[in-house]
Amino acid sequence: MLVDLVSVIDDTPRMAFNITSIEGFRVLVEVGEKYQVPLILQISERYLKDLTPEFVKELVIPKLDRSTTPFVLHLDHAGTVEAVMAGIQLGFTSVMFDGSTRQMSENIRLTQEVLQISRLANVSVEAEIGHVGGAEDGDEDRDTYLTSVDEAREFMEKAPVDALAVAVGNAHGLYTKAPKLRIDRIAEIHKAIGKPLVLHGGTGIPLSDIIQAIHVGVKKINIGTELKQAWLAGARDGIGKHKELDQVRTTIREHIEQAVMGFREVMSI
Ligand code: 13P
Repeated sequence: MLVDLVSVIDDTPRMAFNITSIEGFRVLVEVGEKYQVPLILQISERYLKDLTPEFVKELVIPKLDRSTTPFVLHLDHAGTVEAVMAGIQLGFTSVMFDGSTRQMSENIRLTQEVLQISRLANVSVEAEIGHVGGAEDGDEDRDTYLTSVDEAREFMEKAPVDALAVAVGNAHGLYTKAPKLRIDRIAEIHKAIGKPLVLHGGTGIPLSDIIQAIHVGVKKINIGTELKQAWLAGARDGIGKHKELDQVRTTIREHIEQAVMGFREVMSI
């Protein structure tokens, strides 16, 4: 069944995996159902264009709706209010409005608009402050992006979202040097706002650091690149070993499942 974000992260940390392929989607549903563990399946605005809204409407939503396992369908990194509205209309049960590259006042104003719309539709809202960059930004000095405690407090007073993504030494994509997660900052922010925090850029962060982050307030851990890498590795492996497409596809799914199960400990399975 499809549920909202708040209902699954209220007292338990949850993994949020990005759907970027049909193989990934199938594995994620199978893992959720097999272990009866609620998963957050998310699709970024960019990948929604690639996979198509029809794919989500006609395949993803009915499949998750029919399941007896709770799944959250979360729109990841929507950059505009219009994209959020389209996502809600499509059937997403949770949305992220990402105004992190805008001025703080603009981010607050647009997040407030998103909150008004989402509340009417019973949809959860995640926002971001500080900016979680990516290796592709070519910015190695991640300290410049750190979310400050004061910013987080002000933002939550004015735009009280259900979950807040913070920049705490994390980055999207493949890390070019080992990430140094600021556990102290996560703890300070969580103490100041008392709301679930979201860790973006989970790929490449050691599991022990993720677990420490969970202990101090992170409730949603985003993993995208790792599943894309698993797809590619599976395709290479499968093509090397097999002649038939369905066999290659099976190998791809095996690799993705292995990547997902690497987070077994966090998923409590
Ligand atoms: P990675 O691709 O670095 O795992 O980050 C995923 C993410 O944060 C999606 O919002």
